[in-house]
Amino acid sequence: MRLVFLGAPGVGKGTQAELIASRFHQPKISTGDILREAVRNKTALGLQAKARLDQGKLVPDEVVVGIVKEKLAEPMSAKGFILDGFPRTIRQAEDLDELLRSRGERLDRVVNFVVPLDAVVRRLTGRRSCSKCQAIFHVETNPPRRDGICDRCGGELVQRSDDKKETVEARLSVYEQQTAPLVDYYRQRDLLSELDGSGRIEAVHQRLMDLLSAKGLA
Ligand code: AP5
Ligand code: MG
Repeated sequence: MRLVFLGAPGVGKGTQAELIASRFHQPKISTGDILREAVRNKTALGLQAKARLDQGKLVPDEVVVGIVKEKLAEPMSAKGFILDGFPRTIRQAEDLDELLRSRGERLDRVVNFVVPLDAVVRRLTGRRSCSKCQAIFHVETNPPRRDGICDRCGGELVQRSDDKKETVEARLSVYEQQTAPLVDYYRQRDLLSELDGSGRIEAVHQRLMDLLSAKGLA
């Protein structure tokens, strides 16, 4: 399956991408996770991207397209992948089309997660992520077994620096201006499916599975 998960910050793209990735043994390519890891490791990419992440602004197209190109070239992406948080601009979507065409591939589906704004804000402000493996938790809806400790790897859970209220507002407005136009882009190409992302994580996962199986993908 070659999937793109689209939607505003906090709709649950990363959470559902993780579930699909482990269920189907396919890599999840999350550009946000890759950028945050680069910031933590203070690589050249991280130093370049840090200010933009902290302000909730997008990193330049050519930088993220370069990251995705490298990830898709890895053997584990040969049979399929889930792109989480990429593409995020029309230019990125066009570059992805071109990249896949050059590999003789095409996307199977773009899932647009839709969640009411107030729920998105609650999800973002209560999110905690593992500082080591990036697993995603929520203080109320998806708490770890032990406070502040990752269930999966024992790493420390932290709040993302871009989950502060002002930065969340900036990210939501960047989404509206630069990413929302992708909904029409993929609808025109007959690739778009809307998914109601509200309700419990398990319920959303079941809805997603039903959608994929209705499209003959799962
Ligand atoms: P990125 O990391 O992609 O952030 P985002 O798109 O803002 O999305 P989030 O990760 O915040 O939300 P999500 O939809 O994954 O939700 P999650 O599953 O965590 O990007 C960060 C930054 O990197 C950007 O601002 C930009 O600077 C840069 N960047 C990344 N990609 C780029 C690109 N392509 N181009 C340019 N720049 C790029 O869930 C949220 C919370 O809700 C969690 O706590 C979770 O436990 C909880 N939750 C999930 N589902 C449910 C549910 N059903 N019910 C209750 N709680 C739930
Ligand atoms: Mg995410």
